[in-house]
Amino acid sequence: ATTVPFRAAHQAGIATPSQDRLCFATFDVASTASRADLAELLKTWTAAAEAMTAGKPVPGDVGDLNAPPDDTGEAVGLAPGRLTITIGYGPSLFDDRFGLAARRPSLLKRLPQLPGEDLDPANSDGDLCVQACADDPQVAFHAIRNLRRLGFGTVLPRWMELGFGRTSSTTPQQATPRNLMGFKDGTRNIDATDGSMMGEHVWIGDDEPQRWARGGSYLVSRKIQMRLEQWDRDRLGDQQDVFGRLKSSGAPMTGQREFDTPDFGAKDSAGQYVIPATAHIRLAAPENNNGLRILRRGYSYTDGINPETGDLMGGLFFVAFMKSPDRFITLQRVLGQHDALKEYIQHIASGLFVAPPGLSAGQDWGGQLFG
Ligand code: HEM
Repeated sequence: ATTVPFRAAHQAGIATPSQDRLCFATFDVASTASRADLAELLKTWTAAAEAMTAGKPVPGDVGDLNAPPDDTGEAVGLAPGRLTITIGYGPSLFDDRFGLAARRPSLLKRLPQLPGEDLDPANSDGDLCVQACADDPQVAFHAIRNLRRLGFGTVLPRWMELGFGRTSSTTPQQATPRNLMGFKDGTRNIDATDGSMMGEHVWIGDDEPQRWARGGSYLVSRKIQMRLEQWDRDRLGDQQDVFGRLKSSGAPMTGQREFDTPDFGAKDSAGQYVIPATAHIRLAAPENNNGLRILRRGYSYTDGINPETGDLMGGLFFVAFMKSPDRFITLQRVLGQHDALKEYIQHIASGLFVAPPGLSAGQDWGGQLFG
């Protein structure tokens, strides 16, 4: 199918199979906008998102020669490409500006400072985020552009990121893609078709006091720059030690095939761990983090060439969904300090949002948020 249902128990774009492309944007609510303006915009966005994901133009267009078209037009004639539009709300939206303080999901607060980061505030955070994923980059961009257009006067775009080459498979039917370091990425990701795993690790549960947020998920975004020029000069053996996996097959260094379970206890004849102590997969694995798991759903990005050094600039636009943000905090505290990968990466932007649950028939994002 080229369309993904818009209304379901959970928002599309989380457990649904990851598409090839991403356009991710965040917005701040204009200081002049009221609670009613925001609620109205969220209602308008719902109708537009529902139409666009069904492969239809933004509603309202009647070809009036004296008004700007309601749909900007560049997706006309293109296949919907499994477009999903996923909304999220940042901690800042629940300060007192819109009377939402009493609706704040219990775990939604700014991420603390974490090791391995040097964040650019202009490319971080935001009152609202929208993740548009599709198999066609123009379809994904069109979705963000039209929500932005509908938001004139109510929200201001804060930052936007384009992603290509999904870096995580989220369902077993998908072949594991490779990240810009050339390694298969997503091998031991959560299988998003596994409802009990998703319930345990990804969806906000019934213990959340804010009923409206139950069935939603916390979205962590991190723009992670790779030092590609350094990486490309590193020996293959060292590259494999960094991850603890073989570059060609993706197999763990203790196995033969990609999906073999890593043996973190195995030692070589010299008494050294076969999967090194600082290997990314050792430090990130649930076996070594009290069973902790997250759903990774990231994409590669590039920012072109650094004009000062001539270096290629690019990396991973990390997106992950989880039941509670402390999962990311726990992992990054370990990875940012001990991961062998840290020599080759830098977290340069960050965002934390709550993605609300899916909409029922007739419901819209404004009504869901404000109650
Ligand atoms: C696993 C790459 C950042 C969490 C992996 C794997 C690769 C990889 C190649 C092994 C295959 C797999 O199971 O998916 C990268 C790169 C990163 C990065 C290139 C940065 C540029 C992060 C961050 C986190 C994270 C920031 C979380 C804070 C994980 C987890 C696993 C994993 C949980 C699965 C470990 C396991 O169960 O074996 N990553 N990763 N990664 N990564 Fe990352």
